[in-house]
Parts: sequence; C-alpha cells; structure tokens
Amino acid sequence: MTQLSGDDLQEFFSASAKVMTRSLIRELLKLTRRGGIISFAGGLPDPATFPVEELKQITVDVLTQQPQLALQYGPTEGDVNLKDQLITWMAKDGIQVTRDQILITVGSQQGLDLAGRVFLDPGDAVIVELPSYMAGLQVFRSYRAQMIGVPQDAEGMRTDLLEQTLARLRREGRRPKFIYVVPDFQNPSGVTMTEARRRMLLELARAYGTLVVEDSPYRELRFEGTSPPPLASLDREGRVVFVSTFSKTLAPGLRVAWMAASEELIRRFVTAKQGVDLCCPAFTQAIAAEFCARGHIYRHLPQITVLYRKKRDIMLRALEREMPPGVTWTKPEGGLFLWVTLLDGMDTEHLLRAAVEDEGVAYVVGSGFHADGGGKNAMRLNFSFPSEEHIEEGIRRLARLAKKHLPAATPSKS
Ligand SMILES: Cc1ncc(COP(=O)(O)O)c(C=O)c1O
Repeated sequence: MTQLSGDDLQEFFSASAKVMTRSLIRELLKLTRRGGIISFAGGLPDPATFPVEELKQITVDVLTQQPQLALQYGPTEGDVNLKDQLITWMAKDGIQVTRDQILITVGSQQGLDLAGRVFLDPGDAVIVELPSYMAGLQVFRSYRAQMIGVPQDAEGMRTDLLEQTLARLRREGRRPKFIYVVPDFQNPSGVTMTEARRRMLLELARAYGTLVVEDSPYRELRFEGTSPPPLASLDREGRVVFVSTFSKTLAPGLRVAWMAASEELIRRFVTAKQGVDLCCPAFTQAIAAEFCARGHIYRHLPQITVLYRKKRDIMLRALEREMPPGVTWTKPEGGLFLWVTLLDGMDTEHLLRAAVEDEGVAYVVGSGFHADGGGKNAMRLNFSFPSEEHIEEGIRRLARLAKKHLPAATPSKS
C-alpha cells in the first residue's frame, strides 16, 4: 500500500506539532541497544533496584483483595489511598498538603505536560535553568513557549541573574508564566540548589508575580550531606507546583507520579488531564499505595542509594584517573547524573559519532539541555545504569576520545 509522505501530511499538522522535535534522549537510547556500546546516555535506574518480590506479592494481594477497584476506571484526581500515602511521604520533607492538593499523574512527565497545557499560550515566556531537563524543554516548546535560560553554578540557578532577567522582562512589559527548576541533583548537571538560593528564588517569584514549577524526581536519592527544604515546603502563597514520581525510587514501569499544588491549580490540572487520559491506571496506583503502606518504600531507598553511591564513586575516580587536564565535572551528592565539561572549543555533538563508532561509548550532548544552544563542550553522563565494569571501561574510552581531540594548544598531562 502506498502511504502518504511527510510532505503530503504537512498541511494536516497543527502549529504545535510542527514545532515538536524528537527527543535527542530517545534517539540516543536507540544507540545503546547496539552491541558493544557502553552507554552513559540513558537515565535509567539500575534494574537490580527493582523490588520484584515485594511487587509480586502486592500484585497478587491487590488482585485478590480489591479486583473491582484495581481493574476499574478510577477518579481523575487519583486513588485516595495513594494520596494518603503521599501526604505522609511529602510531610517528611515539610510539604504539607491535603488530598485536594494532589493529582496523580502517569509519570512526572505528564505533570510537566499538564503544567504546559494549563499555563502556556504560544509566545509565553518560561524561565529555565542553563542547563535544564531536556524533555521539560521539549514539552514547554511543544506549547510554543519561549524558553529564557538563566545559568546555573555549583549552588543551582544563579538568582542574581534570575533577578536581572525578570527585571529585563518587566521592562519589556512581559511576565514569565513560571520558573522551571529541578533543584535536587538536577538532570542533567547533578547540582543541588542551596537553601539560600531556594529562598531567593521564591522571593523573586513573589516580587515579580510569577509561579514556580519544582520538578523533583531525584530528591530521595541522596548519598551524603543534608537536603535543603523543597521549594514547595517554603511556599506560603501557593506559587509552587511540585512535581514528583516513583520512577527512580520504585520502578519507572509503574508510571506512578504526582503533582502537589494549591486546590485551585489542582482543579485546573484535573480538568486538563480528563481530556488526556480520563484517569491513571487504578492497578498501578493500588500497587504503589500498598508498597508505601507496607513500609517497603522506606526500607527500599537506602538500598538504592548505597548502590548508586558506589557507582558514582567509581565514575568520579575513573574521571580523576583518566581525563586530561582542563576537563572538569560536577560531584553530585545524589541522583543519577554528572556533568562533564571538556575544554573550550571542543564540541561534544561533533565528537559523538567518533565516540559511538570508534570508541563504543555514548553520552548526551550538552547543547540538548541548553535553551540558548550553549553547552557545546559539555556532556551528561549517567552512572546508575551501566555496570561498575562498564563505568571504568566507558570512562577510559571517553578519556581516550577527549585526549585525541584536545584543542591544538592544550598542554598534555606529563
Ligand atoms: C527532571 C525530570 N523530570 C521528569 C522526569 C520524568 O520522569 P517520569 O515521567 O518517569 O516520572 C525525568 C525523568 O528522567 C526527569 O529527569
């Protein structure tokens, strides 16, 4: 059968569909399936962390004890048992919410999409970090928002530059719809925003009359040090939309995540979600609720963090040992990623083909995370998924690549 070509179909696509681009992450994940490639490109949890036995038992129990509920449609807002578990889960971090301030979502990616759906019109400004989560940029872009980047340093988003940006926009008669941040072990950089910056960011959001979307999938994966409070716990005005997930603490295959915000905002998100999928699967919500109710989630987390801490340390030691002078990287206290910056003038997009084809190692190029096209000499490395041996070998390969492509004038390690 002959099929309509892309050109034939162009006239049918909406303006939004036309600006949607395929995610670089998804494209890159395909590469990792080729034999012999060591991939630091994905963001997958280590499958060894999946609590298979507990989930088997819970699945049987849920189907035995509550099949009528678990296999039925549920309310768009989400399962109340799960919400009650989340109220306790969030309270340990100082986020005080009621059932009506929670919406269960299919992955936190859906939470970001609902934020886009509810807040964004074409041309609206959104403030994002430089770098920022690639699929977050992608979803806000699909609503044809204009992303305005504010650089990050070791303490998170530079709030001095945020203030300058907000002031400039105000002079131009514009008000961003929200500031999007991943404050804990950020994807991609691994950086955690300090408490002082969090307080300042909220203060600026108030002063300039905008909202905050706090996306926090990695917060629980802390290996050392203490966690600054979530922005949502500091918010007294209902300015923060908190988005989180069980993808990294339980299993991404369940697709159980949630949003917490003021009742008014949650009502809006619920209305938007009705048109998307009516409701989240009752089955996986019941499983996640039971996983929490039986206390498994609390016992499970330390096992994950021990494993990931070890992998992070192996990666950090390998980088130290192998990389040529001038290459730098972040040292995250948790999460799944770190961020490597090569020397000025090096281009990780340009190097990716050689990395994959000559060295058999993959990473995500830094520019994909930059709303302003920057980050050309940077890359994101994931340390949760590859095995310990692959981390050692993969960093050796990356370092060989970096040394081979050093800019001419760079002195080499003696
Ligand atoms: C910052 C950030 N937000 C959201 C997501 C989406 O997670 P999920 O949809 O699995 O909950 C991810 C996944 O990697 C992420 O890194």
